[in-house]
Amino acid sequence: MRNYPFPNPETKICLTIGHPVDKQKSLYMHNAGYEALGLNYLYLVRDIPPQQLAQGVNAMIQFGVSGMSVTMPHKVNIIATLDEMTPAVEKIGACNTVHVQEGKTIGYNSDVIGALTCLKKKTELKARRAVVLGAGGAARSVVYGLLEEGCEVVVLNRTQKKAQLLGNDFGIRAYGFEAWNDYRQYDIVVNATSVGSRREEDCTCRLCKLLYRGEEANILFDENKVALDVVFQRNQTEFTKLLQGKGYNIVYGHEMLVAQGAFQFELFTGHQAPVEVMYTELKKNLESW
Ligand code: ATR
Repeated sequence: MRNYPFPNPETKICLTIGHPVDKQKSLYMHNAGYEALGLNYLYLVRDIPPQQLAQGVNAMIQFGVSGMSVTMPHKVNIIATLDEMTPAVEKIGACNTVHVQEGKTIGYNSDVIGALTCLKKKTELKARRAVVLGAGGAARSVVYGLLEEGCEVVVLNRTQKKAQLLGNDFGIRAYGFEAWNDYRQYDIVVNATSVGSRREEDCTCRLCKLLYRGEEANILFDENKVALDVVFQRNQTEFTKLLQGKGYNIVYGHEMLVAQGAFQFELFTGHQAPVEVMYTELKKNLESW
């Protein structure tokens, strides 16, 4: 609760930049967190078209923003505008968090932090075996984090060429979906594809096909395995529904979103994030489909 006039001339501003930005869930959770702690911060959302990214970022710095969440389609191109970046941003090639300190921009990848924070609550990662579905930006972040923690990682992707590119970049095995079907030997399964973020789209990977048909389900799953779905738009995706009740300990995408949001909150404000408040607010704003 704030016991002073708000907003006021000292109010600090953080925001999400992207294009388009119509369904930004971070807006609610960050503002709820600021309010809960009585912080003199305000979180906004701004649409910056791709061709105006550099100018837009500059304008935000001049305006005095403290931090930015960077969403599609700017996660790669923002890197060229940064003064400094973490090794994770450099290796992954994507940045979704920018901290502005005395006019200098420092880029982070909070997806890595969000995924690892949630997975570590469920399992040890060192020397565990993980299979990651997908080879886009989200997959690169998860793969980077898992490798840093000492996991053995295999990547499967619909488009084999993209899988191979990721595999070569990180020095790991990577295949097209059809080339692989033995999920038994994995402790952790991650959906890092975009399947589930839009309506009416099924995953075409072998694991999901097997699950949809219900075939071989018993031999595929053991107790104590962990699944992570990076899709955060709703409570349950087809992927999490399929894995529920099959012995998997599930990390939902919205849990990962809150964990990465908590990291941003602490980076931008210097205060410990009220995670429960942020989570409750986010859940109210998830899609119902
Ligand atoms: P993000 O940055 O969110 O990871 P992206 O870079 O567009 O988004 O990557 C989307 C990922 O989801 C890709 O791995 C994509 O597979 P392709 O490389 O074959 O395009 C995967 N994907 C998207 N739709 C899919 C579907 N219906 N079935 C399986 N994989 C899909």
